Amino acid sequence: RGTMTVGDLAKLLHKDASEVIKKLIFLGVMATINQELDMDAILLIAGDYGVEVEVKIPVEEDSFETVEETDEEEDLVSRPPVVTIMGHVDHGKTTLLDSIRKTNVTGGEAGGITQHIGAYQVEINHKKITFLDTPGHEAFTLMRARGAQVTDITIIVVAADDGIMPQTVEAINHAKAAGVPIIVAVNKIDKPEANVDKIKQEMTEYELVPEEWGGDTIFVEVSAKQRIGLENLLEMILLVAEVNDYKANPDKRARATVIEAELDKGKGPVARILVQHGTLKIGDAFVAGNCFGRVRAMVNDKGRRLKEAGPSTPVEITGLTEVPLAGDPFMVFEDERKARAIADRRSIKQRQSEMGANTRVTLDDLYSHI
Ligand code: GTP
Ligand code: MG
Repeated sequence: RGTMTVGDLAKLLHKDASEVIKKLIFLGVMATINQELDMDAILLIAGDYGVEVEVKIPVEEDSFETVEETDEEEDLVSRPPVVTIMGHVDHGKTTLLDSIRKTNVTGGEAGGITQHIGAYQVEINHKKITFLDTPGHEAFTLMRARGAQVTDITIIVVAADDGIMPQTVEAINHAKAAGVPIIVAVNKIDKPEANVDKIKQEMTEYELVPEEWGGDTIFVEVSAKQRIGLENLLEMILLVAEVNDYKANPDKRARATVIEAELDKGKGPVARILVQHGTLKIGDAFVAGNCFGRVRAMVNDKGRRLKEAGPSTPVEITGLTEVPLAGDPFMVFEDERKARAIADRRSIKQRQSEMGANTRVTLDDLYSHI
């Protein structure tokens, strides 16, 4: 339980500790050989080596992250792909998503409803795609570390007038660690300084080789601002989705992930979540991180009220007792009493571990002052 060092992990994987450390640094974790790793880091590293890890946590009522998904093949139904847009600051992620949505939002829905949910669904040729923008990089890193359960496909946006920048590399690394398909969108091709070949050349250094150069990475040239190449990008997304045929079982209690959450003056705690398994319904009792609640109202990204939301649907919900954290797992339970009990136990545990950490800091402080 949480007591595996970098050295232990390296031994287990039959790898050199220095190699594992290098990988960790690559993923943004500064590590030494004796450092204890948390579950997320272990999963990321093992995943990177293509090793399946079975997490064995003592069976407790509150360890719902480990609840097994045992769906029969015949219960699985196709669901929209979840596509995350990542890339360096100002390379045009939000503009790209805005353009895609404007192209596809039907007349009646375009009204002035505030749409600050970071997740959107569009429909192309009767096929839905769920998009996640990555505004705060922090929130996204958290989601990645949660085991990358959220994204099916990653779109790496690179500005053709700029090039591969630190967060582009970080995004590539996250997508690779998560093992999800990557589509490169070379953006801002309307700019006179745009140099698409240079971007492609740079990308080959990260093993992302365009198909026309003999590789297997899809590159799409777009201008988010001038709406060039968007249809092509959407077609490529649907193609990847068709090949992978993403599925989920809609006929069970919902499991979701919190995308973002905040305290709204009028509505109280509000969470924007992405339903991943099952179907979420009004009145469902749930746990989100350490919080619990009962779904009071549910609104989709177009501001429309929903009674239920199936797999790959992003929704905004009210009915929480507190504000959960971005990346928190969300799960429906049979009744509110059970949900409350689990949330309570989780917050007590968290407080205990925080207190433990604080005690140590205090002691250190003491010694350093002697
Ligand atoms: P962060 O969320 O801060 O990481 O940035 P972002 O990647 O979402 O970039 P954003 O969409 O906010 O765009 C940054 C700037 O680039 C804005 O001024 C956009 O108008 C501009 N921009 C985006 N796409 C294009 C494009 O295709 N062509 C041109 N010329 N400008 C673009
Ligand atoms: Mg943005």
